[in-house]
Amino acid sequence: IPKYELVEASVVGEKKNVGLVRLNRPKALNALCDALVSDLAQAVTLLEKSPSIGAIVITGSEKAFAAGADIKEMKDTSFASNVNVGLLQEWDKISACKKPIIAAVNGYALGGGCELAMMCDIIYAGDKARFGQPEVTIGTIPGAGGTQRIARSCGKSKAMEICLSGNPFTAEEAERMGLVSKIFPADKLVDEAVKLAEKIASHSPLIIALCKESVKKAFETSLNEGLSFEKRIFHATFSTNDQKEGMQAFVEKRAPKFTNS
Ligand code: CAA
Repeated sequence: IPKYELVEASVVGEKKNVGLVRLNRPKALNALCDALVSDLAQAVTLLEKSPSIGAIVITGSEKAFAAGADIKEMKDTSFASNVNVGLLQEWDKISACKKPIIAAVNGYALGGGCELAMMCDIIYAGDKARFGQPEVTIGTIPGAGGTQRIARSCGKSKAMEICLSGNPFTAEEAERMGLVSKIFPADKLVDEAVKLAEKIASHSPLIIALCKESVKKAFETSLNEGLSFEKRIFHATFSTNDQKEGMQAFVEKRAPKFTNS
């Protein structure tokens, strides 16, 4: 794995099948400047393309997952230049990744930091994590999915409260509203996220990619369309070797050997 300036990427897990990407811009609490997002997108794309990697964990430091988009970098841009350069468009590469991504959030996950966590498939939080969408306090609104993803995963009242007040909220609150799936002591968080990633990576990567795609549909379509998509994908898994192997192994009471085919 190449060295990046603002993220550290490594391959971890007992079977070396998990990609770990650590945001590493401590001086600015991992504020997501263009260079950092570009490094992050490159690292994620590389891990997505590596056949041995089954899942990815994105984390920051114990102080900050990420304190948002880089305010200093964008404060003097204009509407026209934002449209012309596609401000924050690079971020979409994270949400487009076909492999599962777990966000392991310690410390601040504010603004774009909270949005980056929500672009991931699962959020695990350290007990001292602080989430929030403070954009309105600096004269703008969330621009990397905050208004949409909170609304879809936690409903209108929570989304409005969070986005309109700008108030931060704790890991417990985030778990209660369904944004975070589990909370761990800060120093255990990354290990726990890697453990979950290893479990995911023990399944067929092909089937996992289809399963992720199907769950994502729940956020993108009507229930009827989602159900019909799911059913078709479910039917389609029966054309794979991994479905045959998985069910044969069950019947023979042994562990399956998936071949990603
Ligand atoms: N952009 C640029 N720099 C940032 C930053 C950001 N989002 N967040 C923190 N930093 C920098 C600070 O400017 C400071 O740098 P200097 O030492 O050079 O002054 C350094 O990181 C440390 O920050 P603080 O001194 O402020 O640390 P603190 O512990 O006192 O406070 C904090 C921590 C509460 C997170 C505070 O830094 C803060 O409020 N940050 C901004 C949070 C924010 O508003 N995020 C939303 C950004 S807009 C956005 O994200 C748009 C979008 O939807 C994508």
